[in-house]
Parts: sequence; structure tokens; C-alpha cells
Amino acid sequence: MKPYRWIALLALIPSLAMAWPWSKDMANQISIKPQEGPDATRPFPQRSVPMEGTKTTPYVHDHDAAMKLPNPNPATPESIARGKSMFKIYCVPCHGDSGTGDGLVGAKLIVRPFDLTADRVQKEMPEGYIFAHVTFGGPLMPSYGNDMYPSERWDLVNYVRHGLKAEQSAAVGAK
Ligand code: HEC
Repeated sequence: MKPYRWIALLALIPSLAMAWPWSKDMANQISIKPQEGPDATRPFPQRSVPMEGTKTTPYVHDHDAAMKLPNPNPATPESIARGKSMFKIYCVPCHGDSGTGDGLVGAKLIVRPFDLTADRVQKEMPEGYIFAHVTFGGPLMPSYGNDMYPSERWDLVNYVRHGLKAEQSAAVGAK
């Protein structure tokens, strides 16, 4: 092959110059991100009132940071009930009503959604891990940080930990 053809072929190989991975290249530009830069700590205007929810859960950038957060919402019946309604909207399609991963969408996935009633989720992982997984998603699971307020996500954690399995055992007992 003539040299100029090789050069033409080289130009077709994906490289950093072509901004791989392209799914993120728009976000990864040299620009000031939200809550970065000189304005990040700008004092609030006089007489402004803080929005509910921003006091208890600080802004976190990633899974590792979110994982260490303590749950600011006590697991009251009200919180668990609010969490349950979030679970029905966002989690049931994959994890199923039972939380075991038998949702209608979940059944079609090659990697089945993990069982949320397993000891790993119920006892071993910190509550912040569940919060982090919902906020940022997993390797396959989508993220829900933009769909729910932090406080709603903590209610959801309370439902997963204190409502989901208790309901399952009650349902099995009733049969
Ligand atoms: C589109 C399907 C889908 C939806 C919707 C979904 N998940 Fe998942 N989830 C998965 C899959 C697949 C995994 C396993 C792979 C991964 O972590 O990405 C998983 C893993 C998890 C894990 C980690 C469990 C472990 O043992 O590591 C938690 C916690 C979790 N999901 C909670 C939730 C909650 C709470 C919701 C509702 C906000 C939800 N998921 C919605 C598919 C889904």
C-alpha cells in the first residue's frame, strides 16, 4: 500500500484526538463545574431562606463520598411509607415488588438486578452505600440522583432496610 493510504487509515483509528469516550466529552471540558470556582462559596443573599433538604445532606461528587454519609432521616413509619412510594415508582420495574430482582424489566436483563432482601443489602452494606447506588447508579443500574431529592432517597433507604423484607415475611406468613 502506498504511504499516503496508511496515513488515511491511521486517521480513522479512534484516539484521544477524537475525544474517546464520546459519551462524556461535552461534560469534560475546561469549564467551571457546578459548585466549583470562585463563586462556589458566595454568601447567600440577605434574608434568603435555605431550601429544605440541603442542610442535612451535603453535595457529594461520587459513590465513595456518598457511601460515608449517615442517614439523616430516622426510620419512622412515615419515612418508610414515603420510601415505599418511591420504591414503587423507581425500583419495582427491575427489582420487583418483592425486591428480589423479579421485576418485569429485571427479568429481561442478562445480569439480573441484585436481590435487595439478601443479607448483603439488609445487614452488611452501610446505608450510605444504598444511597450512593441510588444516587449514582451501579455498573448496570441507572442513576436516580436527578429524580429524587436527597431526603426522598434516604426515605427509600429506610424502606429498603426496614420495610421491604418485613413486608415479605408478613406476606409469606399470611399464605
Ligand atoms: C433498570 C433496572 C434497575 C432499576 C430501575 C433499579 N435497579 Fe438496582 N440494580 C440493578 C442491577 C442490574 C443491579 C446489579 C448491577 C449493578 O449494581 O449495577 C442493581 C443493584 C442494586 C443495588 C446493589 C446491591 C448489591 O448487592 O450490591 C442496590 C442497593 C440497588 N440496586 C437498589 C435499587 C433501588 C433502591 C432502586 C430504585 C431507586 C433500583 N435499584 C432501581 C437494576 C436496576
